Amino acid sequence: MESSGAAVLTPDVTGAAAQGRGASPAGEKPAIILVPWDPDAPDHVERMRLQRVACGWKQDGAETWRPLQREGKIGLHWIVLSPSHPETASRVAAHKSQFPDEAAPLRDTCRSILGRGHTVSPEVADDSCLFVPVGHISLDGWHADPSLHTSAADGVYSLTTFYVSRAMQGVGIGGAAVAECERMAVHDFGAKMMTLDTISNEDVTVDSPRRIALKRPILKVTNQDWYVRRGYEVYQRRPNAWFDTDAAGKEWWCTAVCLRKTLV
Ligand SMILES: CC(C)(COP(=O)(O)OP(=O)(O)OC[C@H]1O[C@@H](n2cnc3c(N)ncnc32)[C@H](O)[C@@H]1OP(=O)(O)O)[C@@H](O)C(=O)NCCC(=O)NCCS
Repeated sequence: MESSGAAVLTPDVTGAAAQGRGASPAGEKPAIILVPWDPDAPDHVERMRLQRVACGWKQDGAETWRPLQREGKIGLHWIVLSPSHPETASRVAAHKSQFPDEAAPLRDTCRSILGRGHTVSPEVADDSCLFVPVGHISLDGWHADPSLHTSAADGVYSLTTFYVSRAMQGVGIGGAAVAECERMAVHDFGAKMMTLDTISNEDVTVDSPRRIALKRPILKVTNQDWYVRRGYEVYQRRPNAWFDTDAAGKEWWCTAVCLRKTLV
């Protein structure tokens, strides 16, 4: 993954949950809900564009994803903070303050996701079904790149197109979203394996010429390590996987790593 019905996080008493971050200890209300992205709602499409711009890559992806979402090949979801979590109000306020263009709520209007019907989650909000997404994550049953082996028929799903608002990174929201995608993949779609790709450690080091030229931040935890800490293992390296262009117009190719996790 470069650097891709509403479901509720299964309570988790380990890791982030135990530390009071994004996930929720057993018995408490869950911290995040995944709400399907509506490829036919103009405000959903525009919000995705804004979040991709904030993320920094795949900025024009939304138009490509619309037919794939409609066809049930990909399952792009909004990450929504649970209204009942004690920190939700302050986190959403921080997000709106940092990203004023994202202040308006969206409506839970998508009616089909990954080939099955979606009904509005009672967790999302009040009767208006409005919510303010603070990120997104895609759980896909199809992928153009064969190295991910993505195949709903074979029980291999992939995580792609993943972003958490910079107003709340590092508090466990991303981990909770991945955990929820893994739960959904197994329980709702019969998945056995999850795969993804991400930028390799070597291209994000402090002294990486690529990182410096592209003015990318120094990461506290690299993307590769972030997934390894969540049980993923590298099974393939892909040199020259994609490129980004620096301010002077120079193209910088990167090495990607493919990772997988056995779910059942
Ligand atoms: C990668 C990303 C989705 C992770 O989401 P997140 O909500 O920040 O992640 P969490 O809070 O659940 O994870 C916390 C962990 O990440 C580390 N971390 C990641 N980003 C951090 C940040 N900005 N500040 C502090 N800690 C951060 C923490 O040290 C912590 O490590 P541990 O739990 O393994 O000990 C998010 O940082 C992001 O959107 N980054 C930009 C886009 C991107 O890289 N997408 C993924 C492409 S593969």
